[in-house]
Amino acid sequence: MDNLQRENWTSRLGFILAAAGSAVGLGNIWRFPYVAGTNGGAAFLVLYLIAIVLIGYPVMVTEMTIGRKTQKNPVGAFKSLAPDAPWWLVGALGVFTGFVILSFYSVVGGWSMAYVVKAANGFIAGTDFGEVFVGHISGVGEPLLWHATFMFLTITIIGSGVVKGIQKAVEVLMPILFVLLLILVFRAITLPGAGEGLAFYLTPDFSQITGQTFLEAIGQSFFTLSLGMGAIITYGSYLSDDDNINDNAAYVAGFDTLIAILAGFAIFPAVFALGFSPDAGPGLVFTILPAVFAEMPLGTIFGFLFFLLLTISAITSAISLLEVVVAYVVDEHQWNRKKAAWLAGIIIFIVGIPPLLGYSTLAEVNFLGMDILDTYDWISGNIFLPLGGLLTAVFAGYAWGARETVEEANKVKGAISVGAIYSFLIKYLVPIAIFIVLVTGVWETIAG
Ligand code: TRP
Repeated sequence: MDNLQRENWTSRLGFILAAAGSAVGLGNIWRFPYVAGTNGGAAFLVLYLIAIVLIGYPVMVTEMTIGRKTQKNPVGAFKSLAPDAPWWLVGALGVFTGFVILSFYSVVGGWSMAYVVKAANGFIAGTDFGEVFVGHISGVGEPLLWHATFMFLTITIIGSGVVKGIQKAVEVLMPILFVLLLILVFRAITLPGAGEGLAFYLTPDFSQITGQTFLEAIGQSFFTLSLGMGAIITYGSYLSDDDNINDNAAYVAGFDTLIAILAGFAIFPAVFALGFSPDAGPGLVFTILPAVFAEMPLGTIFGFLFFLLLTISAITSAISLLEVVVAYVVDEHQWNRKKAAWLAGIIIFIVGIPPLLGYSTLAEVNFLGMDILDTYDWISGNIFLPLGGLLTAVFAGYAWGARETVEEANKVKGAISVGAIYSFLIKYLVPIAIFIVLVTGVWETIAG
């Protein structure tokens, strides 16, 4: 299986689904609602959508293009396009970021797994689900076991080859997740008192916006689209020369955004209808949805299916994070794929232990008022990913050259062809906007 690496996706749909599998995950269903909830709701939604179109889409096209062109992992890709300049450091930053993100992603994936079991036992109406959630995460043994299980599954899939298994699994599971979300949306918006939640989600109050809101919106757009650390370069490297890029990127970004928007519709009406507060933070979906399931006909089945699919969508994202690290050591250092997956996976598991203990043994440890998991999330999601995206855009716009990038992206004709607007975005708007937002957002966070 050592050559799996340079295998190509066996079908166009396979690639779209694998990339969508990477994109759709905890970022859509866990992170998006709580970040939107703590950043003003509708005003955040607007900024997030703008960020997806003007920043996320062009960066996604750029990453896919670099990957398809070079057929390499992120470090190797930058090296081969710019052999004489240290652009490979951007790839190295990506590999490092992948370590950090996966380490806490797996902890949250573990929460989701624990909730599969809780859901199967039934959520009982009248329970204080906030307390249940805190009770779970402030344990040590159980969360640790689920974190280990989550990493084990991720390592096993990556170690033994991913293309067909993932292509097949995602093809079946994504539609189910989609239908289930629609059912939940229907349930949430028909709850008595849902209107207030819809207003929070859909009526923007722009006075809520600060530099931090922009930073969160850009960070979320990168996180949710799996951008800024070479995951899409890596997946793009398994594309062959006759695969279209611009349309594929639009499908992936569009589908991912749709899922996030639906997650918001499933959650905010319920938050208000059930008397919760939208700015509850990372526990939001784990406390709101069980309360909804508890009251809903067939709630046990829906709850079980929901957390199962959330877990699976988390795993299809996690494998893309581990794949970046593994592709790097296999390509550049000729490691055996299995060994690479295991070694990287074990280190990532260990790096994930501090954020896991941040709700128990290490509860005292704080950084700018954030617990350890939030800190990992904030630094990787709001700093490293946007920085990686900025540097990738500068690379494509100037070092490799906008003209070459455009030509390569348009090589296979489809419905969309990129041109002057795309060049403008990657040369000017993306780097400048990210730069300004990074500086002001970080400043405000540190100062405030
Ligand atoms: N996009 C995934 C989600 O929304 C997480 C993810 C997978 C990711 N691969 C990534 C985030 C690469 C950043 C970079 O859950």
